[in-house]
Amino acid sequence: MWNYTDTVHDHFLHPHNVGPLEGANAIGEVGSLTCGDALKLYLKISDAEIIEDASFETFGCASAIASSSILTDMIKGMSVDQASRVTNKDIVAALGGLPKQKMHCSVMGQEALEAAIRHWRGEPPVPHAHEDGKLVCKCFGITDAQIIRAITENGLKTVEEITNYTKAGGACGECLDEIAEILAAQLQQKVLVELKPKARLTNVQRMQKVLRIIDEEIRPRLALDGGDIELVDVDGPRVVVSLRGRCANCRSSEVTIRDLVQGLLREHVEPDILVVEAQA
Ligand code: FES
Repeated sequence: MWNYTDTVHDHFLHPHNVGPLEGANAIGEVGSLTCGDALKLYLKISDAEIIEDASFETFGCASAIASSSILTDMIKGMSVDQASRVTNKDIVAALGGLPKQKMHCSVMGQEALEAAIRHWRGEPPVPHAHEDGKLVCKCFGITDAQIIRAITENGLKTVEEITNYTKAGGACGECLDEIAEILAAQLQQKVLVELKPKARLTNVQRMQKVLRIIDEEIRPRLALDGGDIELVDVDGPRVVVSLRGRCANCRSSEVTIRDLVQGLLREHVEPDILVVEAQA
């Protein structure tokens, strides 16, 4: 029995935005029924490039339905540019977590969103190099390019994690050796990259990056709950912020600061960023 969060339960039992969307001008379709999961995402995008409406049809488990449902809630009101930066990690965070064996459901959401945006832009429908990559897992139709992407974007370190995120290797297991070779090559490359010393940002560069990530990544997410954020100071890796709106007096403001604000700044600016809340 999987251990699901209340949010996953809620979206599974009462999914939002289900069914085809009249007037949709962007459709992204990923997965296949033979692989056990399929998702079709519909978007209605305005002339101002805002996602005015979104809906989905899915064939899959509770996690696939919950991931699709919360994704449609998340992207409504976003610009296409903002939505193109939504990742499977954002979907998992919004659900309050997914069982590790179900991570591929969040990846499917991200891939459907990318496919829909590509459709709207008039680009080819396949964004994940299925065509360029070499087929590794015949059971689920997963290529080496998809496996490498899952490893690099999610920091995967074991074959089991790769199966959780892509399903590759989760049936007959014939591809497991090849997956292990791909993983070893990727981890080796990562070690080599990490050996190169990284140049530190100047304070001005750091502040500019922090402001950009707050504007583009953090503020839109807080706004979904009626909250806002203000940058108070940047002193080396120490970033002082003030939560506003409904986030200001929220009991979980500490979690918001640590998991959302600090997490995104560490991911996009510098890994040793420390975020603290300004004292009233
Ligand atoms: S070929 Fe990958 S699980 Fe069967």
